[in-house]
Amino acid sequence: MKFQAIKGVRDILPPDSALWNRVEQTAREVFGTFGFAEIRLPIFEPTDLFARSVGEETDIVSKEMFSFWDPFDKRLPYEIGSVEARMRGMNVQSLEEYGSMALGDKFQQISLRPEATASVVRAYIEHGMQTLPGNVKLYYMGPMFRRERPQKGRYRQFYQIGAEVLGTSDAPGIDAEVIEMLMRLFERLKLKGAILNINSIGDKNCRPAYVEKLRAELQKVREQLGEDSKRRIETNPLRVLDSKLESEQGIIEKLPRIADHLCADCRAHYDEVKRQLGLRGIAYQENWRLVRGLDYYMRTTFEITAPGLGSQNAVCGGGRYDGLVELLGGPATTKGIGFAIGTDRLVLSLQEPGEGAAQGRPAGKADGPDVYLAWFGAAAQSASIGLARRLRDAGFVVELPAVEMKFGKSLGLADRLKARHAVIVGDDELAAGVVTVKRLSDGTQQKLGEQELFSYLRAI
Ligand code: HAM
Repeated sequence: MKFQAIKGVRDILPPDSALWNRVEQTAREVFGTFGFAEIRLPIFEPTDLFARSVGEETDIVSKEMFSFWDPFDKRLPYEIGSVEARMRGMNVQSLEEYGSMALGDKFQQISLRPEATASVVRAYIEHGMQTLPGNVKLYYMGPMFRRERPQKGRYRQFYQIGAEVLGTSDAPGIDAEVIEMLMRLFERLKLKGAILNINSIGDKNCRPAYVEKLRAELQKVREQLGEDSKRRIETNPLRVLDSKLESEQGIIEKLPRIADHLCADCRAHYDEVKRQLGLRGIAYQENWRLVRGLDYYMRTTFEITAPGLGSQNAVCGGGRYDGLVELLGGPATTKGIGFAIGTDRLVLSLQEPGEGAAQGRPAGKADGPDVYLAWFGAAAQSASIGLARRLRDAGFVVELPAVEMKFGKSLGLADRLKARHAVIVGDDELAAGVVTVKRLSDGTQQKLGEQELFSYLRAI
């Protein structure tokens, strides 16, 4: 029996994993300079958390979550295992009654997280972080899960690097600084061709009237729309603007635009976000159709596209979500804004030929070990174990064969591993207190004492 990874999930192998690490490390460094600290979150949460925040009617919640019933009764400590004990604990008289109870009354439904903003807000409320001074600035990285149709840049387990700012201020300068932080990261990673799209989708004062207007207009053209959009006229008319269906594009272009329906406060906020981006020298495109697929957004929304990704070209998405903390039971005064980068897509784009230096290792370092330590004989093995430890302590990458090999075979392996040097230790070397160092690129070799060996390797 041969096993394969489940459709839509994948392994990230060396040398790609080195680039992943570099991306994540750079994000930590850049976010750190903006005063963000890491939050580590659970991979699963109660399904309701996502239903409430992301929205019951969204694609993510209505069809893409990996959800299951936790088999342990939510009202009982998990040590109580038998059905009889559970029934007693719940005051249920008969097995029939227990059997007919709704699953939701007995068990908790759990979902693998499809995104992490909901978890950050849950944690913010749970730990009373509103009492902390200033804005709470958090970042996270890790896997998310959505049951989407897999294709290039779209996976069922994918990774995000995200950041959130929570606090009592909704100053447009916060929106601009969050975007600035993202652009700094992309610059540091040498991502080429990133394009920032921004929009404002209004707030609870102005959006409902716009949505009604949009719905009315969509009703008039209903018969020309595809099935998804027809359904969305009722469930979420804004999402029609997201449609990529060729036949709908002409129709959508003629629909009323939110920019013409923002209330004075939202208009002023949006204008100031744009001015603040200008102060930071950040170029952007306004995109009135950028509504995003999660319900918690209001006012500022943004997305960044990058080349080389085909149709899944959004490498990052984010926006403001001022009502979410209150919706989840926290203080009504807390506002929020954040983003999440799709790490899979960012890495794909960095690997595009001609794009940023997509190397995991520092420039100039070969893939293979610095030293392949070829030893011959028991005494040489024992000496080599000590030498390998000292070389590794000094930061060199050392490959030490675990068993003795014939000379030719051992040096052949050093070549195939792309080692930069073979350091040879045999009886002759031991007797003379030296090692033989062979530079594998040109075959030159010399005998060096240990101190000379270290100086020689350091000089390269
Ligand atoms: P999102 O737009 O759903 O937003 O996801 C953010 C990014 O995650 C996308 O732009 C994309 O790069 C990546 N992504 C999403 N789904 C997949 C997938 N199936 N495969 C590969 N990559 C994917 C959010 O998740 C919000 N929580 C962002 C946010 C944070 N808004 C405010 N704070």
